[in-house]
Amino acid sequence: MIQIKSKAEIQKMIDAGKLAAEVLNETGQRIRPGVSTLEINDFCHKYTLRRGAKSAPLNYRGFPKSICTSLNNVVCHGIPKREDVIKDGDILNIDVTVIYNEYHGDTSRMFMIGAVKAEVHQLVNDTEAAMWEGIKTIAPNKRINDIGDAIQNFLSTKKTNYGIVRAFTGHGIGKSFHEDPPIPHYSQREIRDRMRPGMTFTVEPMVNLGTHEIYIDKKDKWTAYTKDGSLSAQYEHTCLVTEDSYQVLTKI
Ligand code: MF3
Ligand code: CO
Ligand code: CO
Repeated sequence: MIQIKSKAEIQKMIDAGKLAAEVLNETGQRIRPGVSTLEINDFCHKYTLRRGAKSAPLNYRGFPKSICTSLNNVVCHGIPKREDVIKDGDILNIDVTVIYNEYHGDTSRMFMIGAVKAEVHQLVNDTEAAMWEGIKTIAPNKRINDIGDAIQNFLSTKKTNYGIVRAFTGHGIGKSFHEDPPIPHYSQREIRDRMRPGMTFTVEPMVNLGTHEIYIDKKDKWTAYTKDGSLSAQYEHTCLVTEDSYQVLTKI
């Protein structure tokens, strides 16, 4: 069941979204060569508490840390580690989800460290632009699958043959981290649900330089890698369907 949020709930989503954006922004400023993803995690954890909120990932279905840090060929759900030291040429996704006044705000973005190859720079820019193409379709009466259509159409105009990840989707969000509906980032004709004012969900495409296929780390059961070892990028915003269009809740 897709929830329609009340006015009071929407205000809490606005507050949680704004805080998530600020936390991601502050956390991002700690990223530089020589810093480990664990140090980034620890900063974010403490800063989130200092702002009166909690990190949603910590202990969520057994996730062991407070943020996801997905480096290079990691698609999503990377676990922060002391050994993962950021170096020149890396690309890194930081995914922050806060719980503030019982409501969730979920957002992620890429960071390019130092000199990144032109093709990789393009992957990152195209992924962000693809997210916006998806978000721009949001309005009452539009179909949920318009988002994936727009993302897939946009990326198909690029000369690189990108893989759009299918194994993970965006999601409804509110008092729960993951609610209905799933939001696919590729064309999924069978999803016919329509957007209604008061729905809140994320748009968070993951785009690979190679195949869309992924595998999950056998040991940690979380880290998702590209099957072919290619690099992967992701951007995410939490969005609200308004009376006539949309509002991005996790924008600074
Ligand atoms: N923030 C991720 C998302 O966008 C979910 C992470 S689940 C976790 O949906 F357990 F890995 F934190
Ligand atoms: Co999300
Ligand atoms: Co997220």
